[in-house]
Amino acid sequence: MNTILVGAQWGDEGKGKIIDVLTEASDIVVRSQGGNNAGHTVEVGKEKFVLHLIPSGILRPKKKCVIANGVVIDPVALVKEIEGLEKRGIKLAGRLLISETAHLVLPYHRKVDEARENRKGRNKIGTTKRGIGPAYGDKAARTGLRLIDLAQPKVFSAKLKARIEENNAILESLGGEPCSFREVEKAYLEAARKLRPFITNTVVWLHRQLEAGKSLLFEGAQGTFLDIDFGTYPFVTSSNTTAGGSCTGSGVAPHRIERVVGVMKAYTTRVGEGPLPTESADISDMLHAMGREFGATTGRARRCGWFDAVATRYARMVNGIDELAITNLDGLDTLKQIQVCVAYECRGKRLLYPPNDAEELLHCRPIYRKFPGWQKSTTKVRSFKKLPVAAQKYVTALAELTGAKLRIVSVGARREQTFRV
Ligand code: GDP
Ligand code: IMO
Ligand code: MG
Repeated sequence: MNTILVGAQWGDEGKGKIIDVLTEASDIVVRSQGGNNAGHTVEVGKEKFVLHLIPSGILRPKKKCVIANGVVIDPVALVKEIEGLEKRGIKLAGRLLISETAHLVLPYHRKVDEARENRKGRNKIGTTKRGIGPAYGDKAARTGLRLIDLAQPKVFSAKLKARIEENNAILESLGGEPCSFREVEKAYLEAARKLRPFITNTVVWLHRQLEAGKSLLFEGAQGTFLDIDFGTYPFVTSSNTTAGGSCTGSGVAPHRIERVVGVMKAYTTRVGEGPLPTESADISDMLHAMGREFGATTGRARRCGWFDAVATRYARMVNGIDELAITNLDGLDTLKQIQVCVAYECRGKRLLYPPNDAEELLHCRPIYRKFPGWQKSTTKVRSFKKLPVAAQKYVTALAELTGAKLRIVSVGARREQTFRV
């Protein structure tokens, strides 16, 4: 079975953890969009891994992983990630394949990202400053450089020189620091040498695997409301984080996909700016006091709020979510009462789906349904029927409000703190 896994909220839903669990029954894990703005945490035994560009499936020794064409790759960061995993005993040779048509994130992308954010001041997006927006911008403008260019040093150098000239002029106008052509050329050609054994035509490779009966698992990055089309624009990332992005980002056709799994937390979080209708200082303070909800990539404190079923209902629709994985249920263990947003009230109207205008979203007031808490630890629970009854009712209601089947519940960061429903 070929499966797409997506985040149904604002990112950091626990996709890495659920991918690790689902990888057991798959052959190949594919990243198809985003870049090292992603931070996917997997805890196995006493070890904790945070993956940025490499699919989380890499932690299962027999599985293969693909970074496909839709991902934007900072090759220097990728080499660091590969070496970091190898140092920890994870073997990557023959197991990791990287698309030659994936676009490069270059140092000027990072600098432009940062300079634009600084100029926006209070209106900033709160990006990860990894250069993701400018890199996808160059791709759409047809001025991007790809991994395939890196394979031909002379061609790469000529293209890079022209791009650096243009971007240094942009950086000057934005008040940013220029890039040195020689430094970038040296660092990127060195990274290219290290990446060479992994780079291939991943479209053809993936189709050969499909013909051989292998199953694919697509690891979404970010989440539905960070999608460039369906998110809270402009407070979004620059790729399609929703299910369709997995197909365009890999060259695997939609009819090959048999299942879409949506991952959502039992509450809501968001890192960076932009509307978050159910945001609650009480929940944020409680989770931060427990040492939870700090970003895996930037370390920033995540904003937290009650579960928003208006959002997840929309996520179910645009992704075609069949099955749900609910994570971080244990985060609510101590609460006496839990609220769930079932609709928005906006200028006198009751809305079941979020409005498209981020400004309008700021005027939406959540309409809450109250649920009794269970006030018991769930972290040792390993089956649905062992959950406190109030917790069973709560997760069942989240699935019903979202409109998809509940399949997985997660009650802790570790692999074994997961059960199927
Ligand atoms: P991703 O970007 O969607 O992969 O999610 P992140 O790794 O950025 O953030 C999810 C965080 O929640 C990580 O710290 C995970 O280790 C942690 N996590 C995932 N599932 C659970 C869970 O059920 N309970 C607890 N306590 N932590 C979880
Ligand atoms: P994972 O895969 C949460 C957010 C940033 C910012 C916006 C744009 O770990 O869920 P960008 O650097 O992409 O231009 O930033 O998107 N963002 C994420 N938030 N999880 C992520 O990835 C994110 N990747 C980007 O905080 O608001
Ligand atoms: Mg994350």
